[in-house]
Amino acid sequence: MEKKIIVVDNVKKIYKIGRKQDFVVADGLSFQVSKGEVVCIVGKTGCGKSTCFNMLLGIEPTTEGTIRIEGRDPYKDFNYFQTKIGAIFQTDRLLPWRSSLENAVIGLELVEKSKEAREEIALKWLHRLGLEGFEEVYPYQLSGGMRQRVGMARAFTVNPDILLADEAFGHLDQVTSNQLREIFLELIKETGKTCLVVTHDIREAIEIGNRIIVLGKPCRNLLDEKIPEFSSEKEKGEYEERIFSVIDRGEV
Ligand SMILES: Nc1ncnc2c1ncn2[C@@H]1O[C@H](COP(=O)(O)OP(=O)(O)OP(=O)(O)O)[C@@H](O)[C@H]1O
Ligand SMILES: [Mg+2]
Repeated sequence: MEKKIIVVDNVKKIYKIGRKQDFVVADGLSFQVSKGEVVCIVGKTGCGKSTCFNMLLGIEPTTEGTIRIEGRDPYKDFNYFQTKIGAIFQTDRLLPWRSSLENAVIGLELVEKSKEAREEIALKWLHRLGLEGFEEVYPYQLSGGMRQRVGMARAFTVNPDILLADEAFGHLDQVTSNQLREIFLELIKETGKTCLVVTHDIREAIEIGNRIIVLGKPCRNLLDEKIPEFSSEKEKGEYEERIFSVIDRGEV
């Protein structure tokens, strides 16, 4: 049987707004991800994609239901997952007082004692991501696309089992975002990592994912669709239309 590496089971998430009001962000959210799968999560803005992402990362607890990654709770076992899960965020989240190299080694500081070894690994990823010559510069000296590349290098340096990306290419111009997506795809194919990619771009999801989960509002799955690897342009167009209409109607 395929090994389920991520298991989200009937998750409910409630935020308290103000003193009394409850806001239900997710209700009845369930899905599973097998090792090596690349799953894209799409849904309308505000439907709770980032909340789901934060719960998977262990930054936020669930209110009800469970999330298990490799059988463990990412919120309770947060430290265990520091080097098991690599995260790429919408904004780069780099430390402004650290250079590209110093940012890229952050995750490795937890596991690799030797500074030389840390830097060797981080340099390899920075170069792979086209940042040769920019190792010593600070985030304010880089363009948005370059900062995003440093963020991507930082996620890959720890060689995580699982990669999570939340709108990682969304705010860049189309050419840059296409280039970064290409590099990202190449790297995940090469490393065979299990990936969960949050995006609001349906076409991007079809290009990247083996599978697409469409979320409704409050956050729950409306559609869970496998995308065959060698789909024709016509088939991709049909998937796109179907997914669009499910998102639009908020139901299957
Ligand atoms: N810490 C919080 N406290 C209260 N409400 C929150 C909190 N974080 C998110 N929300 C609310 O939860 C809902 C879902 O937000 P979330 O950021 O998860 O959506 P999203 O699907 O990622 O949207 P987008 O596509 O715009 O990034 C929103 O209505 C938001 O206001
Ligand atoms: Mg979001």
